[in-house]
Amino acid sequence: MNKTTRLINLSEPATNETAQQLRTINPPTYRGSTVLFSNYEDLTLSNAGKYEGISYGTDRLPTQRLFEEAIRDLEGGALTRAFPSGISAITNTLLALTKAGDHILVCDNVYGPTARFCKEVLTHYNIETTFIPPAAGQDIDQLLQDNTRLIFLESPGSNTFEIQDIPAITAISRRRGIVTVLDNTWATPLYLDPFALGIDISIQSATKYITGHSDLLLGTVTTTAEYAEVLQHFYRVTETYTPEDDCYNGLRGLKTLPLRLRQHEQSALEIARWLEAHPRVDQVIHPALPCHPEHHVWKRDFSGSSGLFAFTFKSDYSETQLAEFINHLQLFGIGYSWGGFKSLITAAKYDRLHPSRYAGKTVIRLNIGLEDSADLQEDLSSGFEYLK
Ligand SMILES: Cc1ncc(COP(=O)(O)O)c(C=O)c1O
Repeated sequence: MNKTTRLINLSEPATNETAQQLRTINPPTYRGSTVLFSNYEDLTLSNAGKYEGISYGTDRLPTQRLFEEAIRDLEGGALTRAFPSGISAITNTLLALTKAGDHILVCDNVYGPTARFCKEVLTHYNIETTFIPPAAGQDIDQLLQDNTRLIFLESPGSNTFEIQDIPAITAISRRRGIVTVLDNTWATPLYLDPFALGIDISIQSATKYITGHSDLLLGTVTTTAEYAEVLQHFYRVTETYTPEDDCYNGLRGLKTLPLRLRQHEQSALEIARWLEAHPRVDQVIHPALPCHPEHHVWKRDFSGSSGLFAFTFKSDYSETQLAEFINHLQLFGIGYSWGGFKSLITAAKYDRLHPSRYAGKTVIRLNIGLEDSADLQEDLSSGFEYLK
């Protein structure tokens, strides 16, 4: 046999019998665009769309299916699909559920790229977006149109952490047959149950807490039975491929999610309370603190808080002073994303369409990681010295 042919046939995949004998505690991962059929008859069934097995990489390989089932179970939904990132989960959901001529409502404090997708892509398909106040509730009633098809919420919203009144919104949307979608990445299904509050579709950027190690991107969409067929069909025809290794890491992350989240919550609250008492700090923007304007809504709907929050300073420091403060931090990395083991800091002013409590103010956002919170406080304290 020619060496090339030999090499090609060397690493046969394990037979089912071997796989059953070797029961590693974690699932194997598969790599494959091509998935071999056992015989011509199966190929013929697949050609006719009647094959029951997995026929191709985009048909969702086994580890992806396990990850989706774990998330579906955790969310308490009817169907979950994994996407290669959180933003991919979001944009695909928006495309799956809307059509030309539709109108959608999106909260003003939504993750920036979600808003940008609505403004720069959905408009091409003649789908109009109205941005609703960041702490919207039943007031959305006035913004509904006859062609309003979908409401997209993110609570607490990105960077400024306002909380929407989800039950008030879903009470209206249900009466009008409007689908509601929630980006629930901040609370995870552990600290907020979207379906219990009437939401139809729950999205996670599993890049954050679910995988927890800032080393990959992954997203999930979970629906109620009502929207399961729409998502399933859209996923099938768009042939999304979500890498098996990432799904494996998603599954692994789920094992320690409750422990990690509890630690993120505890450390973030310790630091938030310490900042609240700090003479340089003006507002600490953390939904679990009683000073947060929608704290009562958070307390009613959420069962915990995570490790991402923000604060503002009393003084209006110059860019140079802010740079001195941030560049001198030893433990906080300067970088996007959150939910990982390492503490991170970002700072920006946020333009909103609706009146904002933080207009013109630099909002310092902290992702509190898994370091000792006393060390993180000390680091921030040392950094503040550079603000003189
Ligand atoms: C609230 C929220 N949703 C979605 C995303 C997008 O997730 P990903 O980075 O996995 O695309 C992010 C990313 O920062 C986010 O903060």
